[in-house]
Amino acid sequence: MSPKIDPFVQHFRASAPYIHAHRGRTFVIMFGGEAVASKDLRTLLYDVALLHSLGVRIVLVAGARPQIDEALARRAVAPRFEGDLRVTDDVALQCVKEAVGATRVELEALLSMGLPNSPMAGARLQVATGNFVMAQPVGVVDGVDYQHTGKPRRVDADAIRQRLDDGAVVVLTPIGYSATGEAFNISSHDVAAAAAKALGADKLIGLLEEEGVLDAEGLPPSQLTPHEAEHILRSGRDLGHDVERHLAAAIEACRGGVPRAHLVARQSEGSLLRELFTRDGIGTMVTSETFEGVHPATQGDIGGILALIEPLEEQGVLVRRSREMLENDIDRFTVIERDGMVVACAALYAYPDDSIAELACLVVHPDYRTSGRGDQLLHYIERQCHAQGLRRLFVLTTQTSHWFRERGFDNCDLSDVPEARRPLYDQGRRSKILLKPLD
Ligand SMILES: CC(C)(COP(=O)(O)OP(=O)(O)OC[C@H]1O[C@@H](n2cnc3c(N)ncnc32)[C@H](O)[C@@H]1OP(=O)(O)O)[C@@H](O)C(=O)NCCC(=O)NCCS
Repeated sequence: MSPKIDPFVQHFRASAPYIHAHRGRTFVIMFGGEAVASKDLRTLLYDVALLHSLGVRIVLVAGARPQIDEALARRAVAPRFEGDLRVTDDVALQCVKEAVGATRVELEALLSMGLPNSPMAGARLQVATGNFVMAQPVGVVDGVDYQHTGKPRRVDADAIRQRLDDGAVVVLTPIGYSATGEAFNISSHDVAAAAAKALGADKLIGLLEEEGVLDAEGLPPSQLTPHEAEHILRSGRDLGHDVERHLAAAIEACRGGVPRAHLVARQSEGSLLRELFTRDGIGTMVTSETFEGVHPATQGDIGGILALIEPLEEQGVLVRRSREMLENDIDRFTVIERDGMVVACAALYAYPDDSIAELACLVVHPDYRTSGRGDQLLHYIERQCHAQGLRRLFVLTTQTSHWFRERGFDNCDLSDVPEARRPLYDQGRRSKILLKPLD
């Protein structure tokens, strides 16, 4: 048995590959004015400073909707929205400028703390803001004149990159400027999506005020394609404005070439770090990439397969296989890889003369069981058998016979397996032999 590992050491080791993977990457992080007003802003910006210290290039996009509404309330003016879009008249624009200015100062002040209570206290972060977003007016839509409400026209990605190269954290606000010298109020989600696309960012991260995205069954999906995300968005269910706006920005960014967009509940402690430094994260990731897939194993998968099977070999569930054996047999293996980690494997040994094959070493990582991956691999192996004209599949197992019986296998004898395989049967293990006809 391996000695018990200290949880800190275990977590640190598990997050190390992500620290390495995120270094030098560009993340656009969007959050609402609620986050700016919240008492948790310090903690959030501490985590941002931590990411920055790990070499992540960060663009923050801060909304100011509640602050703008408060500024209007102080003037006894009711905010005006058409659908989800603010109609920004002269008074509202004044409020936008006030609220956005105050928000910016608040962020700059807190980011200037660096990493308090750590050896990096006082390592002041440089914050860069500016006229990075060019805007154009929304204009008149369906008879509604949106006045000073705008949409992004162009993001000056080169200028932002220069500030990031200099080591600054870039802060974008929901204001854009036009070539005619006017300021426009833009939705912060539109700014974030446009900036992520223009920069070719590696991630767009949205910090949600609400609990998260829920699918039709009321469950939080850990991963969605842009198409699936759109399906949820257009389902007619009430997802909450905040989730809808974030989801729309995530879809737009992914379709515009951003590989991954993450939506995470802001109020869950350390959510940003947990999303970025654990394999499965805690939120919903929208991505067009195949994050998980079945494929024939290659030499590069040997380490992953060994890590998967060794604990089961120790428990006596599987027969021991050395690295050399695996290297020789790697072409017989199929793996399911999830974000670079082998989470399941299976091997197929064919006896074409007897049109029979052995399924061996079918393993799913304990964290990923009972989600159909075992079945997925079995189907994949059965398709391989069909393709090779093999008509029966057998398996030797000590503890999993029922799993196979529920999938069409039946007990059989050693005499049913190919002659060449019989001498290799380990009488000491007394494995059960099960056979499935594939016709
Ligand atoms: C057997 C194994 C591959 C199944 O993987 P999986 O991804 O969990 O499989 P699926 O999700 O497709 O199926 C899960 C179902 O199988 C059941 N199951 C899991 N292990 C079982 C066993 N030993 N006996 C009977 N049923 C079992 C689960 O309870 C679950 O049933 P449910 O859907 O009714 O809840 C996995 O449990 C494993 O890796 N086991 C250890 C290695 C092993 O024994 N391999 C077989 C010998 S080569």
